[in-house]
Amino acid sequence: MKFLKFNTYEEMSAAAANIMAEQIKSKPNSVLGLATGSTPVGMYKKLIEMNKAGEIDFSDITTVNLDEYYPIDPANNQSYRYFMNDNLFNHINIDMDRTNVLYGLAEDPDKECERYEQLIKDLGGIDIQVLGIGQNGHIAFNEPEENLYLNTHKTALTESTIQANSRFFSEGEIMPTASLTMGMGTIFAAKKIILLINGKAKKAAFEQLLNDRFCTSCPATILKLHPDVTVICDAEVAD
Ligand code: F6R
Repeated sequence: MKFLKFNTYEEMSAAAANIMAEQIKSKPNSVLGLATGSTPVGMYKKLIEMNKAGEIDFSDITTVNLDEYYPIDPANNQSYRYFMNDNLFNHINIDMDRTNVLYGLAEDPDKECERYEQLIKDLGGIDIQVLGIGQNGHIAFNEPEENLYLNTHKTALTESTIQANSRFFSEGEIMPTASLTMGMGTIFAAKKIILLINGKAKKAAFEQLLNDRFCTSCPATILKLHPDVTVICDAEVAD
């Protein structure tokens, strides 16, 4: 694991965007693995700016997102499909047909997960995967547990994740308690991974990344076994 520390969230977002831009320039038909949540929003803003300035071209890019609530209508403004359209896809020159998010209304969630796993294989795998991390160390929705899944699967959210994510839901809105998510093996198959982490609330999770152990009770620590992971963090979490 390589660590890059920046003073501010702005600076870490710019650094992450630069890594993504390099990937896009060196392979214009890259498969980008993307994440939702508040962490990557600054990076998406920078990528939009770069695209508008003509520095990067998304016309041959394919994207696959890590996860989606289940069940949820993609048109619901709390869905991860909506989030991606709103925070990135609607503002860049990407072909919407090449943006992939697990379908939150799939009748058969297991089949949807199988389809997604196969889709990623058929695309030739993920060139670069962006990850955030939960306060409890989850990546995508691989929550701390004794056994973690290899492949894309349906899973219940833990109480801690429901608490953390409920901030996005207004009163009266029902928050889904399950999700469809890439598994640890799906993420591990990515050629390159950048893990973004900022803010005091993630300090405990960040510290677990520094020692030379890994465990399923902090799923992100397993990334220490991957050959190409860059952790991009701000001073608040690292100092
Ligand atoms: C989002 C995802 C989650 C988030 C994590 C951190 O697609 O897979 O694992 O990355 O929950 O969320 P934020 O960035 O909102 O703190």
